[in-house]
Amino acid sequence: MTILVAGAHGDVGQHLVHLLARAGHTVRGMIRDDGQADLIRRLGAEPVVADLTGDVSEVPAGADAVVFAAGSSGEDVEGVDRDGAIALIDATEDQGVDRFVMLSAIGADDPEAADQLQDYLRAKQAADAHLEDSDLVYTTLRPTTLTNGAGTGTASFDTSLDFDEHPRTVARQDVALALAATLTISETQDRVIEMTGGSTPIREGLATV
Ligand SMILES: NC(=O)c1ccc[n+]([C@@H]2O[C@H](COP(=O)([O-])OP(=O)(O)OC[C@H]3O[C@@H](n4cnc5c(N)ncnc54)[C@H](OP(=O)(O)O)[C@@H]3O)[C@@H](O)[C@H]2O)c1
Repeated sequence: MTILVAGAHGDVGQHLVHLLARAGHTVRGMIRDDGQADLIRRLGAEPVVADLTGDVSEVPAGADAVVFAAGSSGEDVEGVDRDGAIALIDATEDQGVDRFVMLSAIGADDPEAADQLQDYLRAKQAADAHLEDSDLVYTTLRPTTLTNGAGTGTASFDTSLDFDEHPRTVARQDVALALAATLTISETQDRVIEMTGGSTPIREGLATV
């Protein structure tokens, strides 16, 4: 497959680009800073320079799937996490690409219930809703707090996680593994899936959620 990764230089994005390239896919790594291009090439991808707050209309051209792993880090939640994601979703549809995987966040289903980051979660909720309303085949993955701990290849997945039973963190490496796996697991299509740390092998967990 040819896969466009938005946020390719991010912490999750770098793991994801590397994994996908190693699995034999053609990976296009979207970055906003040309100075990151060499690193993207070293990870096995072809860099594509574009800013989510600018014109992304041509960026998905020629891809079989798009993965949105970008994020504003709270600096421009409306411009990047909401409108940038929506612009990329629209561009994906317009370019005739039919598969889109969204890295969302736990709590995006109900921002008002969160005790922090409500603006960010509202932006993610709006982008996720736009994706659901699109004609794209989508997977929306909503992980808990990300860590830089070593990936385990295992996690917990559910449509609505019960935190009496599960931890509230998950390793970025495992999130990247899950994002990559959704592309080849049909059971994840047109689903919103919550993810946190756990002991179920990632492919098995995604296929049975
Ligand atoms: N942190 C958490 O605990 C948590 C939990 C659940 C979900 N998430 C979601 O997971 C996402 C990925 O996490 P992460 O740790 O990989 O984040 P990260 O390291 O901050 O990566 C985000 C990437 O998005 C890129 N980006 C930001 N604005 C952009 C723009 N206008 N145009 C193009 N690219 C842009 C950044 O580019 P630069 O490299 O140029 O800055 C960066 O490479 C987060 O953004 C968040 O939405 C996070």
